This record gives sequence, C-alpha cells and structure tokens, in this order.
Amino acid sequence: MARLFCNAVLALVFVLFCFRGGSGALEKPGGCRQSEIPLIRNLSEQGYDSYSLSFGLSHKTVAGAVHHGMKEIEVWIQTIAPHGRSPIHRHACEEVVIILKGYGTFYLSDGHDPDVPGKPKEIPIYPNSTFSVPVNSVHQVWNTHEAEDLQFMVAISRPPMELFVYRNWSTPHNEAILEEIKWNKLKSSSELKQCKEPELKDEL
Ligand SMILES: *[C@@H]1O[C@H](CO)[C@@H](O)[C@H](O)[C@H]1NC(C)=O
Ligand SMILES: *[C@@H]1O[C@H](CO)[C@@H](O)[C@H](O)[C@H]1NC(C)=O
Ligand SMILES: *[C@@H]1O[C@H](CO)[C@@H](O)[C@H](O)[C@H]1NC(C)=O
Repeated sequence: MARLFCNAVLALVFVLFCFRGGSGALEKPGGCRQSEIPLIRNLSEQGYDSYSLSFGLSHKTVAGAVHHGMKEIEVWIQTIAPHGRSPIHRHACEEVVIILKGYGTFYLSDGHDPDVPGKPKEIPIYPNSTFSVPVNSVHQVWNTHEAEDLQFMVAISRPPMELFVYRNWSTPHNEAILEEIKWNKLKSSSELKQCKEPELKDEL
C-alpha cells in the first residue's frame, strides 16, 4: 500500500514538474502564485476536512485549481466513513479513482436512457482496485464495510469541477442540481492570500 501511494506521489511530482515547465500561466484565480507553494509538501501535515457534508465524506486537495493553480488536472484524497456514500452525480470531466483502502460499491449508469440515469451497474471495489468514470456518466460510490473507512485517490481533468447532483436514479438529467463544491471555496482572506489548505483537523 505504501508503495502504491509512493508511486502515486511520484507520478504527481512528475506531473507538477512538467506543469512548471509550461510558459506563463502561473497566476492563480485567487491572485496568488504557484511559485508561493513549496515544491514538495508533506501530505501528513495537511488535514482532511468534512466540509459539513452529511454523507460521511472527508476530503484533502492534493493539487487543485483553486488552491494550487492547477490548470489541467486535480488530485484529491477522499475518505468515506462506514455506511457513507457520495451523492449520485455527474461532471463534464474524466475521473480516475484508485482505492487505497476499504471496500465498497461503485454504481455507474450505462447511459442507455437519454433522459434519466436509470438502474446503474453495481461494481465491487476493493484495495488497489481502480476505475475510470467517463465524462458526464452518472455515478456514485458507497462504503459497504461495517467498520472500515473507504479511502481513495482521485484525479480529475478540466478543473475546477462542475458537480450536478441527482436525487435518485430516476431523476431526469435536466433536473440534476448544480451544487457548489465546498472545498473549492476559499474560506478566508488569509487563505486567499496564502493559498492554504485546511490545517490538520482530525486523524482518520
Ligand atoms: C497493493 O499493491 C501494492 C503494490 O503492488 C502491494 O504492495 C500491496 O500489498 C497491495 N495491497 C493490497 C491490499 O493488495
Ligand atoms: C511529515 O509529517 C508527519 C506528520 O507531521 C511527520 O511525522 C513526518 O516526519 C513528516 N515527514 C518529513 C519527511 O518531514
Ligand atoms: C426521484 O426524484 C424525483 C425528482 O428528481 C422525484 O420526482 C421522484 O419522486 C423520486 N423518486 C423516488 C422513488 O424517490
């Protein structure tokens, strides 16, 4: 597991390195510069935050558009508590998920009905499993384990993400609700100035 994580971090460092080579585009939307962010950061010192979400999700932005000036991809680490689940949702970006620990079910609409998601496929997920979510496919992740957290790394394209949430699998696509992504909101002016992530809050 440590090795998997190391490989992921190495890949990320490589990607960040490539991006720094790009010309010009270092200005962040919030007005701070990528150059103000240390080249290497210790993820153990960066806290998770539940952002007052009700469904048991904790989130850490490893590299994001709002906080780190990323242009093409974002990388997150997320944890879903036992019996927790993500909302049923879609987004117009690709998403790759690597399960770091825990067990659950990945629900994915087959997209056959043009109007509603319809009954989804149910796919078991387990440590070291990975899956990709195609652009605009409606999906959901459940932690099905009684006691263990489900933890995964996420990479998305085209940040920042626009999230459309469905009430159920029969909700028409045009009734899905555009929801604000809480972690993309800078909380204070000092955060805006420093491009900071939340301090370590709780040990998961
Ligand atoms: C996940 O993969 C890594 C690297 O191949 C391996 O060391 C680790 O034992 C695997 N973990 C599980 C739970 O299979
Ligand atoms: C990273 O942070 C953790 C938690 O604070 C600490 O225990 C560890 O020594 C740090 N690693 C390095 C290389 O600084
Ligand atoms: C599904 O959600 C729609 C609104 O999007 C609602 O009209 C419908 O009653 C819901 N169906 C069930 C079974 O809850």
